[in-house]
Amino acid sequence: MRFLVGGDALIAPHSRDVIRYRGPMRASPPTFSVFYIANNFAPAYEIPILHSANKLCTIKEALKRLFFETPITIDKEGICMQIFVRDNPQQVAEVAGALIRAQVLRKPQSVLGLATGSTPIPLYDELVRLHGAGQVDMSRITTYNLDEYAGLAADHPQSYHFFMWEKLLSRIGMNPSQVHLPNGTAKDLDAECQRYEAQIEAAGGIDLQVLGIGHNGHIGFNEPGDVFSNRTCVAQLTESTIQANLRFFDSEDQVPRTALTMGIRTIFQSREILLIACGAAKANIIAQMVHGAITPQVPASVLQLHPNTRLLLDKEAAAEL
Ligand code: F6R
Repeated sequence: MRFLVGGDALIAPHSRDVIRYRGPMRASPPTFSVFYIANNFAPAYEIPILHSANKLCTIKEALKRLFFETPITIDKEGICMQIFVRDNPQQVAEVAGALIRAQVLRKPQSVLGLATGSTPIPLYDELVRLHGAGQVDMSRITTYNLDEYAGLAADHPQSYHFFMWEKLLSRIGMNPSQVHLPNGTAKDLDAECQRYEAQIEAAGGIDLQVLGIGHNGHIGFNEPGDVFSNRTCVAQLTESTIQANLRFFDSEDQVPRTALTMGIRTIFQSREILLIACGAAKANIIAQMVHGAITPQVPASVLQLHPNTRLLLDKEAAAEL
């Protein structure tokens, strides 16, 4: 499947901060989009981008220079996103497991970015199975999780630390020194975010990031907003996310309102991304993410620009594509 990116770009040449989307964008027929890459909303100037191979390279160059340090390659005719559709979540987990296995076979010391939530649970079972069957050796990998609730200690049953050890890490005999999640009980949460980001950078960045997607298009806890978030940051959860997370807590007042999350830029810098979505409730947001505007109102839509993103969907989640 191919998606065109085009339109007018407003570009601040020395900025590495945020991309802001203005205006509508949709392929077929291609209309115009506007990217605003601003440094603290400093004045920007305009580079017209037309729908030609040459001009798409301009977007590529702009993104590479101004926002993302990882070089990105965009197909001359547009952007390619690989989409795998399988009958059910178990089959989706098998595809995801095979892709992760391939990554770890290629690079035994892979840095894996991991997610929590219901979606990756069958994948973690599959990785445990592959590990137990001797089909993949996970002993040298390093893991970084997307996020953690603020205020929950690692041994809190609803914390993402707890989830990860229970669902995957202890089952494959991971050494705690190879496992990383933001510390939700750090005294200074902003400093903790900076530390976490620096740790990911020092590890050489993430080779393969597993993502789920929220009903509102969030990835990690990057909620819809006016700008794409940048690096690891403290995020306020939206009402829809609080309601979605309620199922894990006894009452609504126990659901944390704040979390630490990798930023959109942190996620985008991963060399490879596997976004998994299953179930009819995700169908609409998947269609928006894939076909809709690249906009911080749908944070996952930024992945249209990522050169190496795979969507792994069951039939229900793919129903509106
Ligand atoms: C989890 C995370 C979230 C979830 C998303 C989907 O670490 O970062 O973005 O991936 O909320 O959650 P589920 O899989 O429960 O539908």
